[in-house]
Amino acid sequence: MSDIAYTLERPAAPYDVERIRADFPILSRTVHERTGKKPQPGKPLVYLDSGASAQKPRHVIDTMTRFLEEDYSNIHRGVHFLSQRATDRFEAARDSVAAFLNAPSRDGIVFTRSATEAINLVAHSYARTFLEPGDEIIVSVMEHHANIVPWQLAQTARGLAIKVVPVDDRGVLDLDAYAKLFGPRTKMVAITHCSNVLGTVTPAKEIVRIAHQHGVPVLLDGSQAVVHGTVDVKDIGADFYVFTGHKLYGPTGIGVLCAKPELLKTMPPYQGGGDMIQSVSFSGTTFKEAPARFEAGTPPITEAIGLAAAIDYVEGIGRDAIAAHEHDLLTYATARLQEIEGLRIVGTAPGKAAIISFVVDGVHPHDLGTVVDQYGVAVRVGQHCAEPLMDRMGVGSTARASFALYNTRAEADALVDAVKAVKEFFGA
Ligand code: ALA
Repeated sequence: MSDIAYTLERPAAPYDVERIRADFPILSRTVHERTGKKPQPGKPLVYLDSGASAQKPRHVIDTMTRFLEEDYSNIHRGVHFLSQRATDRFEAARDSVAAFLNAPSRDGIVFTRSATEAINLVAHSYARTFLEPGDEIIVSVMEHHANIVPWQLAQTARGLAIKVVPVDDRGVLDLDAYAKLFGPRTKMVAITHCSNVLGTVTPAKEIVRIAHQHGVPVLLDGSQAVVHGTVDVKDIGADFYVFTGHKLYGPTGIGVLCAKPELLKTMPPYQGGGDMIQSVSFSGTTFKEAPARFEAGTPPITEAIGLAAAIDYVEGIGRDAIAAHEHDLLTYATARLQEIEGLRIVGTAPGKAAIISFVVDGVHPHDLGTVVDQYGVAVRVGQHCAEPLMDRMGVGSTARASFALYNTRAEADALVDAVKAVKEFFGA
C-alpha cells in the first residue's frame, strides 16, 4: 500500500493558523468584486459557515484528483490491476475511519452517502424491523431534522411513539428529564452529540450509560462533534454513531455509520443491489455479512478516499490542537459579539463547541446575513434544519457563525464590524 498512500507531510509545529489557511485554496479568494461602470475591489472571504459545510484542504483535493487520474476503477468486482488498487484504497479508508473513531471493529464501519442516509439506514433496518407498535423512541428537542424525520417515518410505518428530551434556556440537555422518559416500551434513543445550532456538546457517555441500564440501544449523531473534538466511540459505548464527510473537510456524498458489529449482524439490508449479495436467484437471494450487506451498488469510492485524506489532514494537525484553537476563537468571538447592544446569543451551554447562533434586536436574520455577506462575511441564517429547537428557544430563526480550524480572531473582528454596520444600516 505504501506506494499509493499519498502521504501528507507535516512537521510538528505550534498551531500556525496562517500556514493552515494556506492549505485551503478557496480561503485566498475574494468575493463581490465588480467590474464595469462602478468597479469595486473584492472583499476578502471570511468563511464562518463551516457548520453547514467546511472548505477543503489541498491534501483532500489532490488526493481525490490523483486517485481519479492514477488509480480509479470500480471496486470489489474486478480482478484487474486497477480494481484491486482501488479496492485496497477504499478498504484502507474504512480502516482510517475505524481508527479515527476508535471503533470497536472495522466491520462496523458502513460507508453511506451522508449522515442522513446513515440515520435512515438505522431507522429502516433496525427500528422498523425490531420495534413493535406502541414502542417508543427518545430524541431530543435540539435534533437536526435528519435525526427527527427518519424516526417519524418509522413512527408512521410501525405505529411507534416519539418522546422528546427538553433543553434548558442555555441549551443544556436535561439529563434528569431524559432518564425519566424511559419506560418498558422504550426501544431506541437517537440524540445529537453536538447541536449544529447551539454548539451544545451532549454528555454522550452518560446518555449511553442510562439507555443501556434499560437495555436500549443509542444512536448518536456526530456530524458536528467529530469536527470539534476527539470522539472515542468505544469509550462512549454508542451502538450507532454517524457522521458526514463534508463537515470534516472532506467531500460531499460520503457519510459513515459506525455500528456495533453484533447489532449489524442482526439487521436486514436497507437497500438491495449489486455487491451486497452472496447469491441471487428467483427462488431466493442471500446477502453478504456487514458492512458489505449495507453498501448496495457502487459506493462513493473517490469520496471515501477523500474522507480518509481529510482524516489524515485533521490528525496531522492534531485534534486537541484544533479544539484548543477553536475554543480560543469561541471565547474571543463570544466576548466581542456581546459588546454589541441588542445582540443575544442563543445557546450558552458550558463546554460548547465553536458555533455561535445569535439574534439582533430590530434586524431579521436573513437581512443580517445578506448585508454581512456584502462585507465578505459568510454566515448561515434561518432555522438550521432544526425547527423544533427554534420554537423551544423562542426564535423564528437566527444567524449562525460556525468556526473551523482555519478561522482567525481577525475574522471574528470582521464579523463584529459587519454586524455593527448592519445595525447602522437598519437604524437598529
Ligand atoms: N446541517 C447543516 C447545518 O447545520 C447543513 O448548516
